[in-house]
Amino acid sequence: MIVPYHKKAGEVEPLDFFRGSTSRAIETEVLMDRQKALDFLKKHLQQENIIKHLLATEAVMGALFDRIKEGEREDWIMAGLLHDGDYVAAVPHELQGIKVSEMLEAEGFTVPESVRYAMAAHNAENTHVEPQSKMDWALFCADSLTGLIVATALVRPDKKLASVEVGSVMKKFKNPSFAAGTRREDIAFCQEKLDIPLDEFVSIALTAMQKIAVDLGL
Ligand SMILES: [Fe+2]
Repeated sequence: MIVPYHKKAGEVEPLDFFRGSTSRAIETEVLMDRQKALDFLKKHLQQENIIKHLLATEAVMGALFDRIKEGEREDWIMAGLLHDGDYVAAVPHELQGIKVSEMLEAEGFTVPESVRYAMAAHNAENTHVEPQSKMDWALFCADSLTGLIVATALVRPDKKLASVEVGSVMKKFKNPSFAAGTRREDIAFCQEKLDIPLDEFVSIALTAMQKIAVDLGL
């Protein structure tokens, strides 16, 4: 039985083990486990953009945990990284977020109940699994925001996350015709459900994504 995230994974920033630091034994163990999670994603998801979205969401979830500190950090990161692992044509919309846990377990991963629930609830509109915990809401609210931040970067002259500011994302947020597919109402729940003002929520997500800009190709 493989546990994708060692209990002590929370001690290590996702960026650190993504880069493959092996300076400490614990990081080696985490790296191997996370590598298996990445291999799972690469095996099932054909589109590079979805994998980048998952890396972005992983980073944002880690940063949100650091702000909110409820539950286990490795669960938040895992839910962020894997939540769209079943985003393939063969899986109907109403099962997206649910099926991924079955797929992971079929390949020997252990999916904690809280992670299973958060992944199902991120697609509440279709799965009818309602977000409840802070982790559920963090994933629900962050999911669409990563795309808005990427879209904001792509209209900068240098197309780099480094030149994106919170104010520019907020401006794009208030312009519904920009990246029209963004579920702005989902993002805005951060205020009511996480007690985080929208501009702070954007700031947390933007900073987290800027730290992995190289991995996101931005
Ligand atoms: Fe997603």
